[in-house]
Amino acid sequence: MLRVENLTKRFGHVTAISNVSCSIRKGRVTALLGDNGAGKSTLVKMICGTYKPTQGSIWISAKQVHMESARDALALGITAVYQDLALVDQRNVVHNISLGNIPTKWGGLMVDRKKMRQTAESALNYMNAKLPSLDILVSSMSGGQRQAVAIARACALGGQLVVMDEPTAALGIREQRMVLDVVHDLRSKGISVLIISHNLDHVFEVADDLVILRGGRVVAEVERNSVAHDDVVKLILAGQPKDAETEGEAA
Ligand SMILES: Nc1ncnc2c1ncn2[C@@H]1O[C@H](COP(=O)(O)OP(=O)(O)O)[C@@H](O)[C@H]1O
Ligand SMILES: [Mg+2]
Repeated sequence: MLRVENLTKRFGHVTAISNVSCSIRKGRVTALLGDNGAGKSTLVKMICGTYKPTQGSIWISAKQVHMESARDALALGITAVYQDLALVDQRNVVHNISLGNIPTKWGGLMVDRKKMRQTAESALNYMNAKLPSLDILVSSMSGGQRQAVAIARACALGGQLVVMDEPTAALGIREQRMVLDVVHDLRSKGISVLIISHNLDHVFEVADDLVILRGGRVVAEVERNSVAHDDVVKLILAGQPKDAETEGEAA
């Protein structure tokens, strides 16, 4: 469903992502793995329109796309659940779920509050999220509850690809379970998921495909069933970039 070709992202003299090519297949869960600083968040932000690539291209269904913002990505069916939980603290749950996509009526003159509430209710029901109330401020909620709102928001926005950067990192066990169940659910609806997680147990449970980064390069792109847990750990810690191997063969 989405392919990146030779993507590079530099910040000044730091190369965060270097010549990365990989695919996210339709209706499958792809896990993006790598140690801290491997470039995972940077790659994801390019896929979500937050960062513009320094070089390279992004393709959706065989058509090259150019994104200037997260709004552009959304229009292309890509929704993101950010690592830093981009929620507005001083707004309630209903408002946060519709962030970036507030429904209007009267030709855009008025916020459609009823529709906004319905969207929030159905998104949260869908997630089985037990929140005390839809009217409480996000600032008064726990990490897991905030994550539930962020994911519900991505689900409410719809789309063909949901991107999650460390969705379970700050959560308790039950809340982690809820997030993993949502990932299973999205896949069963034919929606692709790109997930970053440090928890290999979670990755092995939900992912179909793995993309492993090291030092801003792809060291492996494999199906989860074709690799052992230990080999994945080795690749994360000491994998050699694919193109470096090819260069070695050519030499
Ligand atoms: N906005 C930025 N400005 C400068 N350097 C950055 C920026 N974002 C990321 N980097 C650098 O790029 C590299 C990859 O970072 P990141 O994508 O956050 O890795 P990961 O998510 O895998 O931990 C790191 O060396 C990081 O310091
Ligand atoms: Mg990161």
